[in-house]
Amino acid sequence: MSSPDVSGAYALSSPEDCLKLYADWAASYDADFAEGMGYVLPAQVASAYLGAGGAGPVLDVGAGTGLLAAALRGLGFQGRIDGVDLSPEMLEKARAKGCYGALVAADITRPLALPASYRGVVSSGTFTHGHVGPEGLPALLAVAEAGALFALSVNAGVWEAKGFPAALAALGDRIRDVALTEAPIYDARAAARDPGHAADRALILTFRRA
Ligand SMILES: C[S@@+](CC[C@H](N)C(=O)[O-])C[C@H]1O[C@@H](n2cnc3c(N)ncnc32)[C@H](O)[C@@H]1O
Repeated sequence: MSSPDVSGAYALSSPEDCLKLYADWAASYDADFAEGMGYVLPAQVASAYLGAGGAGPVLDVGAGTGLLAAALRGLGFQGRIDGVDLSPEMLEKARAKGCYGALVAADITRPLALPASYRGVVSSGTFTHGHVGPEGLPALLAVAEAGALFALSVNAGVWEAKGFPAALAALGDRIRDVALTEAPIYDARAAARDPGHAADRALILTFRRA
């Protein structure tokens, strides 16, 4: 059996497949994938969130092994960070980083059993091929306080394909201050490791819950 990789993750088509892939990937994700590919996206989202004035408590969506919380801490963020992810195995790795308050195994496309008190919502690498589209946004808005800041990476290849522009337009005056910046997902290490994905780009979507 081949090791999990970006192509396998992009090809996921069900929550069951997703659970299986990340159960297999959790142990090697940081050292093999993130280090090997030079995965800079969590740092880009952390920087965007703090640069836009983000505060705690913040919810990390699709927290995985906790790289985004580690990036926030690395930039000096001291507020509370909770995390939600489908994969218990990935969350165990996140727990070991010691950056989080609550860590909850849940599907973000369904209503979340979390308090509606987050002043921010962040996410890296979860709104992408084979993962989550704009159908994930309502449950996140439901746990965000009025004025909460969102900083979410969206793989550039799914922005139109999964219908983000229309979904954001449909949210109307429930959100404000919508902005997009483009960012690399990987650094130069990816070219040797996985040339087919080395140049993949993300859009970092920021907005506030009205
Ligand atoms: C590529 S990983 C990104 C993890 C981490 N944020 C990072 O940047 O390293 C995508 C994560 O999204 C999670 N995920 C996929 N679909 C999900 C869903 N419907 N609800 C919650 N988490 C989901 C997966 O379990 C996985 O941990």
